[in-house]
Amino acid sequence: MADHRTPVFLDCDTGIDDSLALLYLLSRPDVELVGVASTAGNVPTDVVVANNLAWLDFCGRPEVPVHPGSPGPLVAPLRTAEDTHGPHGVGHSQLPPATVTASPVDARRAWVRAAAAHAGDLVGLAIGPLTNLALALRDDPYLPARLDRLVIMGGAFGVPGNTTPVAEWNMVVDPEAAAEVLAAFSRPDAADVLVCGLNVTEQMILTPDDLARLLESCDGAPLARHLADALRFYFEFHRAQDEGYLAYAHDPFAAMVALDPGRVESSPAHVAVELDGTLTRAMTVADRRGLLGPPNARIVTAADTATMMAELVDALAELAGRTGVESRR
Ligand code: RIB
Ligand code: CA
Repeated sequence: MADHRTPVFLDCDTGIDDSLALLYLLSRPDVELVGVASTAGNVPTDVVVANNLAWLDFCGRPEVPVHPGSPGPLVAPLRTAEDTHGPHGVGHSQLPPATVTASPVDARRAWVRAAAAHAGDLVGLAIGPLTNLALALRDDPYLPARLDRLVIMGGAFGVPGNTTPVAEWNMVVDPEAAAEVLAAFSRPDAADVLVCGLNVTEQMILTPDDLARLLESCDGAPLARHLADALRFYFEFHRAQDEGYLAYAHDPFAAMVALDPGRVESSPAHVAVELDGTLTRAMTVADRRGLLGPPNARIVTAADTATMMAELVDALAELAGRTGVESRR
């Protein structure tokens, strides 16, 4: 076990790539996974909760608390993406239902408690809509100063959106929440914010060859077979979108950045979210000239995604190899 462990609080809308990010965090002995907030997005909140519990239980980590989030966005009606992530958010995988239940502490309270308990050390990782983080910030406006850093998967900078021509899914589901979060982190004593937009996460491509290497590396361990079933749905979705038989590993990219921010290039900007545009609602706007205000984030601009993908496959294979023995079939 690593001596110093990095405390991480994960907020996700598990989903297929969220699953990869969660498992990557579990693969790291130097990570203390403080809690998992479950946010409505790819699938409804209760399904996100069930998926998080199921993955944690399968990996022999039922002690990690799973915190149910708000039933929907701050203002917008909930929209989900079963076409992308499958009817239950984990593609074709038939994960055994968890034998443990969710925490009685909801996501907004869990964010506040985790930040207070790990003041100055906690790494926040948000890889779904920002609904529950926004609610937590309403409860504790000082939260931005309590984190060590916040890493967000969301937005699109200089590239098209994946949900509207200009906007990315996590921003589209709850634009008001994203706007509130980015505004809250504008305070001078706020922790660093790294935003991983589609401009870099769509460079993090997981191919069938990567999946084959994962399966081979762990002799087809049960966890890897569930990942293969999940990813096959994701591959099929992207092929149907004429993007190729592949998967964009948006969320594990953000997880890897959260644990090693120095491995990517980034640049400061004031990032805001359009709320009123007919065609541009939920668009992330990056101001690098101080026209909207001082920088409130660093936008990730470049990364060695080939090396990151190789490391991700190795980490998941290692986890599967040691989980495949104890886990329930
Ligand atoms: O746009 C990609 C993001 O939206 C990822 O976090 C994916 O899981 C979905 O939530
Ligand atoms: Ca996600």
